Amino acid sequence: MDIRIFDTNEQLDQHAAKLFVDLVNEKPDAVLGLATGSTPIGIYREIIQACNEGKVSFKQVTTYNLDEYVGLAPDNDQSYAYYMSENLFSKVDIPTDHTNLPDGMAADPGKECVRYNALLEASPADIQLLGLGHNGHIGFNEPHEELINGTHVVTLKEETRQANARFFESLDEVPTRAYTMGVGSILKAKSILLVVRGADKAAIVKEALTGPITTQVPASLLQTHPRVIVLLDREAGRMLNSNES
Ligand code: F6R
Repeated sequence: MDIRIFDTNEQLDQHAAKLFVDLVNEKPDAVLGLATGSTPIGIYREIIQACNEGKVSFKQVTTYNLDEYVGLAPDNDQSYAYYMSENLFSKVDIPTDHTNLPDGMAADPGKECVRYNALLEASPADIQLLGLGHNGHIGFNEPHEELINGTHVVTLKEETRQANARFFESLDEVPTRAYTMGVGSILKAKSILLVVRGADKAAIVKEALTGPITTQVPASLLQTHPRVIVLLDREAGRMLNSNES
């Protein structure tokens, strides 16, 4: 694993954005796996700036997002479709029909998983962006005795709903289920970019990157992938070279 630690969020965001910009310039029809949450916002901001300055074009790029809440429509401001439109898609030159997320309003969630998974199988990502949950989740693949390879519906852990409640008016409004790309699909990406910020994630960063590979820490499975780049701020990386646990 290639682990890089940054002094400022700005440096981290610029570095991550450059990886995307360089990839798309090298391969204009690149397939990008994208994430939501607080972690990528600054990275998307830098990508938008690069696009607006004419340093890159997303006209031929295709994107697949990791996850979406079951039951939220794209015009619901808490849906990940809405987040992606607000934070990236509407601000760069990517055609809307090149952007893909699970459909939160699909009438049959089982069929929606099959549809989304077939898309992922047909075009694995050149790079998959990931954030990290406090319990080691990636996408919405929560700690479990076994992990599922393909796209599936998960019942969100209470701790995950609580962590995400900050984006909603109240905890009650946080959906209880979500679609997520499976760990198998995530690991099929040619390269993976894991980004983590904040002291509150220092312990899980250490566990995921240096602890045993276990489905109880889904991000630990990234240790099996040949090309993972990890970008951390100082706080998130502070336990990596210490005996603290
Ligand atoms: C988001 C996602 C989640 C988040 C994780 C960290 O699409 O799949 O796994 O990356 O929950 O969230 P933040 O970035 O809000 O700390």
